[in-house]
Amino acid sequence: MAEPAFLTAVRESYDTVAADYVERVPAPARMDPLSRAMLAAFAELVRTAGLGPVADLGCGPGRVTAHLAGLGVPAFGVDLSPAMVALARQAHPELRFAEGSMTALETDDDELGGILAWYSTHHTPPQWLPAVFAEFHRTLAPGGHLLWGDYVGDERLQPTQGYGRPVSYESYLLPLERVADLLEQAGLDVTARLQQAPGGLANRPHACLLARKPEQPLSP
Ligand SMILES: C[S@@+](CC[C@H](N)C(=O)[O-])C[C@H]1O[C@@H](n2cnc3c(N)ncnc32)[C@H](O)[C@@H]1O
Repeated sequence: MAEPAFLTAVRESYDTVAADYVERVPAPARMDPLSRAMLAAFAELVRTAGLGPVADLGCGPGRVTAHLAGLGVPAFGVDLSPAMVALARQAHPELRFAEGSMTALETDDDELGGILAWYSTHHTPPQWLPAVFAEFHRTLAPGGHLLWGDYVGDERLQPTQGYGRPVSYESYLLPLERVADLLEQAGLDVTARLQQAPGGLANRPHACLLARKPEQPLSP
């Protein structure tokens, strides 16, 4: 089956901007304190549950993957863009990074102790989010955790430039409650939500959600 056009646009765009992204986007140490706190809480939840590795989906250059690994979580990264994956491998040779799409993961059912989707779903058209969140549900172990973070709003953006270069991707900003509803519809329990006003390094409202795949029901 032919690849959906939005995936081709995202891959080509991030291949173009990968090096500029690393130069322009601050490393996790410079993130706002609440986002770092959510990452630390997620790492603790995953470590405590001990159900398997974390997949950082849309890992870009792998800096947040490495941040999680530094918090004691076995983590690997997946990204659509070969240039991003190459940068991640170069910067973090001790970690595993693979090319792939969160719309169809090459991961077994129930394999993951956690999923991080960190500013990586906003290029996915809303009609594709149920398929992406179904993949999250399929690949998480029962009791496994998801941390989702991204810009929020109610807008479709069609930029021609990103990180100082021409891009062809689009961005879809959704209200936090809509994302939470879609995760619940995919079978995940949303356990925490945090929305922050623009400020610091973020020029838009941004938010985090924690969600969990329910444990298997006990047999009678
Ligand atoms: C804004 S960057 C964020 C990168 C990283 N999470 C970070 O915070 O530094 C978005 C990344 O998501 C990736 N991405 C977007 N859609 C994807 C998909 N369907 N599957 C895998 N990666 C995807 C892009 O290639 C890009 O590297």
